[in-house]
Amino acid sequence: MKRNVAFISTILLVLIIVGVAYARHELMIVPTQQLAFGHKTTMPMPQGGDLRQYIIGQEPYKNWKMWPGKEAFHKGTEPHGALLTVYVNDIALDSLSTRKGMGNNSIILKENYTPDKKLAAITVMYKVKGYNAEAGDWFWVKYDFDFNIQKEGKVAGCISCHSKASDNDYIFTGKIK
Ligand code: HEC
Repeated sequence: MKRNVAFISTILLVLIIVGVAYARHELMIVPTQQLAFGHKTTMPMPQGGDLRQYIIGQEPYKNWKMWPGKEAFHKGTEPHGALLTVYVNDIALDSLSTRKGMGNNSIILKENYTPDKKLAAITVMYKVKGYNAEAGDWFWVKYDFDFNIQKEGKVAGCISCHSKASDNDYIFTGKIK
């Protein structure tokens, strides 16, 4: 009986030690980038999947404001599509109203529609301090109409064209300062 108690206590002790070690490990693997995110601690990582979870789950973009002065289904150009609806998160909106440049964690999400208003793709620019300093620290992602990732990261195609607007933080839709 005594031996049984000793045995069970030992097992419990080992489980507790493993549990604590695992919890500490979980704390330690929080990416430093996430910690550096500024006033929002719950921002997604610059990854298509993480960002998707955020913009359709945690902070649904449909609740965001549109780019000031740009209505739904405004006319677009190549390559993005005939009709565009551009949403901005609160940080981006704030940056646009204070006209001091786009703040860290700004998200600009653009729905790209065909001329008959069928959603064709969703393209997003997400500013993450330290992510890509050579090109405005933007994370780029293109989803199809169903939010499957088509391109993501420091996408050369996106950056080379948007570089024409590098003096406007790589943004075409409107003046940011
Ligand atoms: C050939 C040039 C070109 C390429 C390539 C391109 N864009 Fe754009 N993008 C534009 C233009 C021009 C606009 C302004 C809207 C319009 O006129 O269509 C724009 C607008 C945007 C916007 C709205 C904010 C802004 O910058 O005005 C987002 C978000 C965006 N693009 C994301 C992307 C992503 C992601 C990619 C790569 C998958 C990409 N773009 C590739 C030209 C381009």
